Amino acid sequence: MKLLFIGDIMGLPGREIVKTYLPLLKRKYNPTFIVANGENAAHGRGITEKITKELFEWGVHAITLGNHTWDQREIFDFIDDEPRMIRPANFPEGAPGKGITYIKQPEGELAVINLMGRTFLPPLDCPFQMADKLVEQARKRTKLIFVDFHAEATSEKQAMSWYLDGKVTAVVGTHTHVQTADERILPQGTGFLCDVGMCGPSNGILGMEREAVIKKFLTQLPVRFEVAPDPAQLNAVLITLDKTNGHAKKMERIRIDSDHPFME
Ligand SMILES: [Fe+2]
Repeated sequence: MKLLFIGDIMGLPGREIVKTYLPLLKRKYNPTFIVANGENAAHGRGITEKITKELFEWGVHAITLGNHTWDQREIFDFIDDEPRMIRPANFPEGAPGKGITYIKQPEGELAVINLMGRTFLPPLDCPFQMADKLVEQARKRTKLIFVDFHAEATSEKQAMSWYLDGKVTAVVGTHTHVQTADERILPQGTGFLCDVGMCGPSNGILGMEREAVIKKFLTQLPVRFEVAPDPAQLNAVLITLDKTNGHAKKMERIRIDSDHPFME
């Protein structure tokens, strides 16, 4: 049984590369579950209802979000009606939406949890304590539990993976847009990858147009960031799941770009 997790989908170039390659990835790997981080899907900032529907049409089963969750005003109109889309669970109590969802397939059920780190990011509720609560809740339904930890600091992401080792199937990081090469399975069976990387422009800076980002570093003046043009890259991770004990059996990074062409 496999879970394909697609990293932060960034603007139109990100959506287009996912639309192009998702059918090929499905054919090659035949994943039981497909989850994607969509928090940058609308011009790099948040997600719209139209894009949400598009991702589900393409075969994504659940969408996770992050620090850009509220960037598109219309999110407030549909987040509570879309149980397959989740936002970080450790937003302050009372925030719209929720931080856990379940994907039910004939082969089994997967719990998907979204949490956000607090290092170099807004001071939310404690993601570790929230993880305890949600894992306990999920365990009543299934041993297969996946965590998208949307966080900046590698230390915080490693800490979460060790904290949850043996309690969840996998912890993977999103948000930095740069894929790390540290995929592993921890001693108690939890798969970990510090950051999956993004789906978006290859020649921008984290997917944004280079000129504006460089100007910002040079001048410290306010500048407007726009999503960079094509070509794009796709970053994802394929996790082989063991239904009997809820462990990860294998973690495989996926990277598709001009230097790493897709192989059938
Ligand atoms: Fe983010």
